[in-house]
Amino acid sequence: MTVEDSPDTATPVRSRRRKPAEPGRQDWSSWPHYDGAAAGFRGYWYPVTWSSQITGKPLPFTICGERIALIRDNGTAYALHNRCPHRGVPLSEGNQQFPGTVSCPYHGWTFDLPTGRLAAVITDGPGCRLTGKLGVRTYPVEERLGMVWVYIPIADEEPHPIDSQLPEELVGNAFVMGGRIEPRGGNWRFACENGFDEGHAKYLHRTALWRLFKPMPTWNITRIVPRGRWIFRVQDEVHWDAEFPGVGRWTNKRWWKMQPPKETFNIGNTGKADQIDPTIEAQEFPGFASLSMPGVLRIAYPKFIHYEFYVPVDEGNHRYVGVMVNFTEGWDTVRFYAKYLGAIRWLFHGQFSGQDAWMVDVTDAPPEKLYRPDISLTAWRNLSEEEYGKKLAAVDGASTSTSAPAPAPAPAPAPEKKA
Ligand code: FES
Ligand SMILES: [Fe+2]
Repeated sequence: MTVEDSPDTATPVRSRRRKPAEPGRQDWSSWPHYDGAAAGFRGYWYPVTWSSQITGKPLPFTICGERIALIRDNGTAYALHNRCPHRGVPLSEGNQQFPGTVSCPYHGWTFDLPTGRLAAVITDGPGCRLTGKLGVRTYPVEERLGMVWVYIPIADEEPHPIDSQLPEELVGNAFVMGGRIEPRGGNWRFACENGFDEGHAKYLHRTALWRLFKPMPTWNITRIVPRGRWIFRVQDEVHWDAEFPGVGRWTNKRWWKMQPPKETFNIGNTGKADQIDPTIEAQEFPGFASLSMPGVLRIAYPKFIHYEFYVPVDEGNHRYVGVMVNFTEGWDTVRFYAKYLGAIRWLFHGQFSGQDAWMVDVTDAPPEKLYRPDISLTAWRNLSEEEYGKKLAAVDGASTSTSAPAPAPAPAPAPEKKA
């Protein structure tokens, strides 16, 4: 007799080629750009780490499958391909022997930080004939939101301005922020889809301590509304309990939780707020969850906005960048930091977000049989397909043009912003 005495706890195999035995969609071939972006969409800026982490000692990172060394010199952060052309040793293992350079630890090949050119070869003397003749690739670097951002090019194009890729309200408004950057398992697309996924929050997160006193709905009727380069989830109906024929009643309402609101709401996910922060209100967001390329999620609450940036590392890993922003200045910032460090960091960016990390790590699709709320997923895939097609055409046009200077890849039109 065969006895199965232990559950199968092996790591799921994320093979995309398997027998078509599962119901539904077998692959993502209807979104070819998206399907091909397992290691990320090139041609975008990605946040890598906190600015404070980057010093004169180089550190290694992988973004979109590219190995990168980040280092700071005289206040400026630089990104170089993290592989010495001599014998392939990572430059992040090296250090600085001269200002404005980084030296490989093995034989002292020394690279100029702004250009990546081989500036000196210490162990071949000042007359080394390779000096100035080769080098390593460099990447454009910017610093925003207290983080170092690196542009991963498609070819050799000039990057678009980073501000055209940031959420509009983060450019030109004063704010304070707190956040977490974490390496996480799972493809970046699973993380991004999870962030905008309409169906899961009310079920997966119903046990999160962050929601201890606030009930989550049972089910919603949701629309996807495009605006500028963003898509928004708009809730038309919110149902707090339901009778499932032949199965029973289900609700997340509990005696210790607050009563759910009577009206449908589109800021926050547990109720309608009495007062909304003026900067947030001025954006006139059609819905509380919105998403844009290359995987930027915005969740608007009445008093703050939570952002997630899903940074592709490789096919099976991503970096989670979660940021909570409060549009305030002066003494109010103290109140925000107290709230962030005392609660939000642990409950929201910790346990609540940890539930997402768990699901992203174990998701295994396609195949997939999508259901009605997955309109959020298909709308995102459609958006990315369209935006990336436009980007490729712009970069292609730039590289084939000989007379005119190369234009930057066209950013999508900005949404109307109300003053
Ligand atoms: S491997 Fe880098 S100097 Fe030799
Ligand atoms: Fe979630």
